[in-house]
Amino acid sequence: ANRHVGEIRTPSTALGGVTVRVPAKVNLQLAVGPLREDGYHDLVNVFHAVSLFDEVTATEPADPGAGPITVKVLGESADEVPLGEDNLAVRAAKALAAAAGRTYRADLLIRKTIPVAGGMAGGSADAAGALVACNELWGLGLPREDLMEIAADLGSDVPFALLGGTAIGTGRGERLTPLETSGTFHWVFALAEGGLSTPRVYGECDRLRAAAEAGVPEPAASEPLLAALRTGDAEALGRALANDLQPAALSLRPDLARTLDAGRALGALGAIVSGSGPTCAFLARSGEHAAELATRLADSGVCRSAVTAVGPVEGAALVP
Ligand code: C5P
Repeated sequence: ANRHVGEIRTPSTALGGVTVRVPAKVNLQLAVGPLREDGYHDLVNVFHAVSLFDEVTATEPADPGAGPITVKVLGESADEVPLGEDNLAVRAAKALAAAAGRTYRADLLIRKTIPVAGGMAGGSADAAGALVACNELWGLGLPREDLMEIAADLGSDVPFALLGGTAIGTGRGERLTPLETSGTFHWVFALAEGGLSTPRVYGECDRLRAAAEAGVPEPAASEPLLAALRTGDAEALGRALANDLQPAALSLRPDLARTLDAGRALGALGAIVSGSGPTCAFLARSGEHAAELATRLADSGVCRSAVTAVGPVEGAALVP
């Protein structure tokens, strides 16, 4: 193939469209403050991008009679992804077109590996992928900063899917500062049957807190966690993992306690519900330990399946 073709914007259709690979995230720390008047919570949210990827391909529309943005989803649990106006990738493409001040058309194809409604920001990843893919397909050339602003309006986790790496999010989670980390961490994710709705888990968190009648402190970053990331100390990171949504996720899905216990018994350095769940994340000592942990978790029947991944990895990126 002619290597120069990729540098010219128009032939992207001839090449089968523009494909973007976007990572899932796990929250290493999710500190949830009091409920705000706007229905959100102030967070301190340490995001970490891991090597479970969705792929989003944007092509010129095949059917001129179809809507401006169409979407198809492939992969496991693809049938659980909404295809209408709720689809975050479609909303992202429309928001990008609106920001560019024109009507643009695209067919989106999403290949899912990130669990749907799993607490790993799969929908946000698809939105970030659609932004990068359509920016390229339509030849808009918007810089990342502009895409980050559109992303923040789409959802609290979308900007991080663009950024990748490890970062601390404040506000409702969308104000991001990248964090320096050392080395690579080895993870196992135990995928659960079914999903959990993020608003429902936050609602359960508020309900449990109201019932406990204890004050909710302002969220603060964990110094031991930040130190473990800087030095690449997996044992210290495992001890410092913390998720304020975990009691709420466990209240809605009590079976997840068994999954976490099984991982701890198998020597995981840390075991935590990922974001709003129901996926559980386990920090392993090495790639080998992660593979063994995944096999034994899957065999023990405490999850639907278990996969290994490494982090940090880069954010949404064009696939050449
Ligand atoms: O921002 P996003 O739409 O992804 O958030 C989904 C839901 O999660 C919100 O509607 C809200 O219920 C909850 N949420 C929250 N506080 C945050 C982020 C999300 O309560 N900081």
